Amino acid sequence: MDSGPVSRFTALHAVQRAIGPGRLKTPITRGPLLIGVTGGTGFVGRELITRLVGAGHGVRVPTRDAAHADQLLPLSSVEIAVGNVYDSDFLRRSLEGCDVVINLVGILNERGRSGAGFRRAHVQFTAGLLRAMHEAHIHRLLHMSALNADAGRGRSHYLRSKGQAEQLVRDASALQWTIFRPSVIFGAADSLTVRFAALLRLSAGMLPLARAGARFAPIYVGDVAEGFMCALSGGESVGATYELCGPEVLTLAQIVRLTAQAAQLPCHILPLPDAIARLQGALMDFLPGKPFSLDNYRSLLSDSVCHDNGCARLGLHPASFRAWTPLWLRPKGAAMPLPVVPTAYRVP
Ligand SMILES: NC(=O)c1ccc[n+]([C@@H]2O[C@H](COP(=O)([O-])OP(=O)(O)OC[C@H]3O[C@@H](n4cnc5c(N)ncnc54)[C@H](OP(=O)(O)O)[C@@H]3O)[C@@H](O)[C@H]2O)c1
Repeated sequence: MDSGPVSRFTALHAVQRAIGPGRLKTPITRGPLLIGVTGGTGFVGRELITRLVGAGHGVRVPTRDAAHADQLLPLSSVEIAVGNVYDSDFLRRSLEGCDVVINLVGILNERGRSGAGFRRAHVQFTAGLLRAMHEAHIHRLLHMSALNADAGRGRSHYLRSKGQAEQLVRDASALQWTIFRPSVIFGAADSLTVRFAALLRLSAGMLPLARAGARFAPIYVGDVAEGFMCALSGGESVGATYELCGPEVLTLAQIVRLTAQAAQLPCHILPLPDAIARLQGALMDFLPGKPFSLDNYRSLLSDSVCHDNGCARLGLHPASFRAWTPLWLRPKGAAMPLPVVPTAYRVP
């Protein structure tokens, strides 16, 4: 890896090293970077790429399907490369010349039930990406993982495969990596509030809910994107893992109730006993699109809350779920509720 051309990132990182660790609180600002974003066509990717382009950076997005990148096309300085993202030669060619790569590839459900789909999207993809980066002499990777990711002890295929991918990243020699582990992410195009609001509308507010007491600290997608923006500068973020949590710890039932409140919908939650919830997951495994699965049920067995929230270290003051969700959930024409300033970090 050392024999390759020195990227702008590597040169600047050397300056930071010379200054000394911890001395540099504000990022070194420099000219525009060229940034490869894998998984850039999704919910987080669109938010992040909008900010990257706004900051003057060039962006390359390898994707499996050109249609998935439709919403990125109006953004100037975004190049889309369509191909087989599991072919590391395709990835190398797509990413060649990039200063930094951001990996956002991830799935919440697989086609089958064996875990092979999760291992392919999280582990096999990451291995190919690391190979492609090595061959293209790219040394800097910002990698998206998830809270509770653990190669050995993760409760679900999702969490174990995310943990295995993290391990590959940490073990890659000469790589300057940063890992992000968010709780559930919310925003105007999420699959959390938008999906629950749709379910509540369909069911006249009656919702049987698996793991209703599972705890989350939802983080706003804009804050996640800002976390990546801060880490772009390198410095203290090289070799760092950041858990990302919003200011409120909420049970799943509270998330649904706040969603209903924001969308001004009726809400009657029927918390399912674990045995029934497990059965619900096993049965829904066979529904097209898998709105819920046994693997999702297993992920919900672990609370998705931070032990060491990285937001402060990144200079983030994350947005409140309760205050922000009415922005996109309230009915058309309804006034925004008065701004809610969270006085406590815990919703009673
Ligand atoms: N959303 C959350 O609440 C949340 C919470 C914790 C962690 N995360 C992690 O954050 C990352 C981004 O999440 P997101 O919500 O933006 O996800 P998303 O909207 O589903 O986007 C995921 C991206 O991954 C790519 N992808 C999907 N399936 C793939 C497969 N089988 N093989 C290769 N590539 C595939 C897609 O790119 P193309 O279709 O263009 O190829 C897509 O742009 C993921 O790693 C996710 O695990 C998300």
